[in-house]
Amino acid sequence: MKMASMLNIVKTLAGMALVLSGLSLPAVAQDGRGDVVYVPTPQIVVDTMLEMAKIGPKDFLIDLGSGDGRFVITAATKYGARAFGVDLDTYLLKLANQNAQKAGVTDKVRFIEENLFTTDLSRATVISTYLLPEMNLRLRPKFMAMKPGTRIVTHDYHLGEWDPDEQRELIVPEKKVGNPGVSYLFYFMVPARVPGKWQSLVNIGGRDTPLEFNLQQEFQEIEGKVEIRDRNVDLRGRILGESIRMVVAGRDGLPRHEFSGQIGDGTIKGMLVIGEGAGRQQVPWSARQIQRGELKRAADELAAEK
Ligand SMILES: C[S@@+](CC[C@H](N)C(=O)[O-])C[C@H]1O[C@@H](n2cnc3c(N)ncnc32)[C@H](O)[C@@H]1O
Repeated sequence: MKMASMLNIVKTLAGMALVLSGLSLPAVAQDGRGDVVYVPTPQIVVDTMLEMAKIGPKDFLIDLGSGDGRFVITAATKYGARAFGVDLDTYLLKLANQNAQKAGVTDKVRFIEENLFTTDLSRATVISTYLLPEMNLRLRPKFMAMKPGTRIVTHDYHLGEWDPDEQRELIVPEKKVGNPGVSYLFYFMVPARVPGKWQSLVNIGGRDTPLEFNLQQEFQEIEGKVEIRDRNVDLRGRILGESIRMVVAGRDGLPRHEFSGQIGDGTIKGMLVIGEGAGRQQVPWSARQIQRGELKRAADELAAEK
C-alpha cells in the first residue's frame, strides 16, 4: 500500500477517534447560531500554528469562526499581520472587538458577522480554522482554489485526503475537549496546478533530448508518465506552493531522473539531476504546458458545492 494512503487511513482513524471522544464542545456564553459551538484554541496552540504558517507583517489572515478573536489578534500583535475574523455569534463578535481594542490593534483587524461558508477568501494569504471535520471538508475545495502558496493551518482536524505539509502534536494540559490534553496542528500550502501535458527540450551529454510529461495531480501529489528517448516511464512527485519535485526511479538501464523547479503560468523552470552519487549530472530544465488537465477530486468537489 502507498505510504500516503496508509497515512490517510491512520489520519482518518485518528479523526474518527477525536470525533467519538467528542468535539461536543461546551458552550461558553454565546448565542450559538453557528455550525459548531465555541471552544477557544489554547493560546500556545494559536502561537505554534501561526509560527507553522510563518506569518509576518505582509500577511493577511482570515480566521473562519473567530470566537473571542485570539487568532486574529495574535496575528496582529505578535506578527504585525492584518487580519479579520468571521463568526455568526454576536456575543463573541462583541467580545472579539473588545479584545482587539484592549490589545490596541483595531487599525489592523476586523470582525464580521458572516457565515464562514460564504466568506470571500481572495485577500487571505493565511487561513486558520478550529472547526468540525465535515466543515473542513466542505471548505476544502475553496481552499484548493486559492492562490498557490496560500497557507492554511487547522486545529485538531485535518483536511481528509489532502496530506498536510507539516503536522505537530502539542501536550496542552488545560485542553478538555477533543482528545483532552493533546492538540493536533496541521499545516497545508495551496499547490500550484500542473495536470496536463508538458514538453521540454533538455541538453543531455551535448544532445538536445525532447521529453514529454503527462501529469495527474491530486491535492499536492503528482503521478504520471514521462517519455524519455522512446521510453514511457512512471514518475511521482509533490508540489509545495509553487515548487515542484518529481522523480523517475532508475531501473532497467535508465538512470534515476530528478526534476525540480518553480511553476509559473504554463511554465516550469529548474534543474534536472540524472543518476546518483559521484557520476550524476545536473542540467538546466524547463518545461512548457501544451495541454491543461483537471485536478483529481478537488475539481469535482468544487462543482458539487456550486
Ligand atoms: C471551535 S470555535 C473556534 C474559535 C476560534 N477560532 C479559536 O480557535 O479560538 C468555532 C467558532 O466558529 C463559529 N462558527 C460556527 N459555525 C459558523 C459559521 N457557519 N459561520 C461563522 N462562524 C461559525 C462559532 O460561533 C465559534 O466561535
